Amino acid sequence: MIKIAVLGYGTVGSGVVEVLHTNAKVIAKRAGQEVEVKYVLDLRDFPGDPVQSKVVHDYSIIANDPEISIVVETMGGTKPAYEFVKQALLAGKSVCTSNKELVAAYGAELVHIAKSRNANFLFEASVGGGIPVIRPLNQSLTADRIEQINGILNGTTNYILTKMANEGSDFADVLKEAQRLGYAEKDPTADVEGYDACRKIAILTSLAYGQQVDYEDIYTEGITKITAEDFKYAKAMGAAIKIFGTSKKIGGKLYAMVAPQMIQSDNPLFAVNDVFNAICVTGNMLGDVMFYGKGAGKEATASAVVSDVVDAVKHMNVNVMTIWEDEKQTVAPMDEMENRFFVRIGESEKAKAEAEFEEIEAVDGGVAGEFGFITEKMTEKKFHDTIAGFDSFITRIRVGF
Ligand code: HSE
Repeated sequence: MIKIAVLGYGTVGSGVVEVLHTNAKVIAKRAGQEVEVKYVLDLRDFPGDPVQSKVVHDYSIIANDPEISIVVETMGGTKPAYEFVKQALLAGKSVCTSNKELVAAYGAELVHIAKSRNANFLFEASVGGGIPVIRPLNQSLTADRIEQINGILNGTTNYILTKMANEGSDFADVLKEAQRLGYAEKDPTADVEGYDACRKIAILTSLAYGQQVDYEDIYTEGITKITAEDFKYAKAMGAAIKIFGTSKKIGGKLYAMVAPQMIQSDNPLFAVNDVFNAICVTGNMLGDVMFYGKGAGKEATASAVVSDVVDAVKHMNVNVMTIWEDEKQTVAPMDEMENRFFVRIGESEKAKAEAEFEEIEAVDGGVAGEFGFITEKMTEKKFHDTIAGFDSFITRIRVGF
């Protein structure tokens, strides 16, 4: 029998307890022994809840209990999660977490501490919710050099963009509806500004190359400026607008960004809609491999956390190697990244656009008074320098085809 503690009895933490209870038999079989929740740490009490008798408010009870060999961290944020997790690992306990803020900020250090104590720091649920992508990156895609990762990494924004595409509505209206339905938080900033996806692509990129990528170094643009008119042009092109976390190695340089992009139906991520997430990883031998599923939600995320618990039980006192050195990887300046751009300007500057860009493809979105076009592939700097000369510039979206 393995005894574990769950830190934080919110959506994911209570989901972990529920999954462990509902699937107790099959989990025990797969782990090789039963898994019992001994403590639940929370500021609140939960009278009438099955965990009522297990609730503690003092972390030192868990940290100092030698019977606890695995700590599940589902508190979110870095304070006090970082101190609690570090303390557990230093005491030789394994930690399974769903906390992307913690992993993005301290992943390298926590992986290193776990290794030094023959314990494990596992974080499958921190990216893509229930989708297995961390373990495949660590354990399955080990024969390939990873050339690119492209992911729809945020359910809230994918839901909003899908609704905008289907209903022709504006961002603000769809956001309100998403908030009413519980798909977007009251303060939606982290999702709609791309910060959540940024931490997730930083984690995936750190693992893909075995070295720390600071999320602060990744250019991040959200979806708040995408409009119903943009979707009219997208429809005319047979394209979808999605927000991607992207990283790629070109000529030894690492490029990374979070930004909305237009893609067409030949892209495997085209049909990933609503709250679903998907991550396409390109290896130099394997080619494209795609991971698809629920990127958020109580049961899906808890399922991934419990899969880590099973892994930790199977590898008690054995560190499952995760390569994540703390030496920082340089992300190439955004100015140097090459992209194609879909651009909207006033019709009056059409001739100027044809003269200033080398090769443009006009797009008729049926929007009066405008000229829409796609540029050739060019550096971000060259695009910005060129477009700065257009007084009637309206917007631009990167094009992934
Ligand atoms: N807010 C996140 C999302 C939750 O919408 O994907 C999972 O990290």
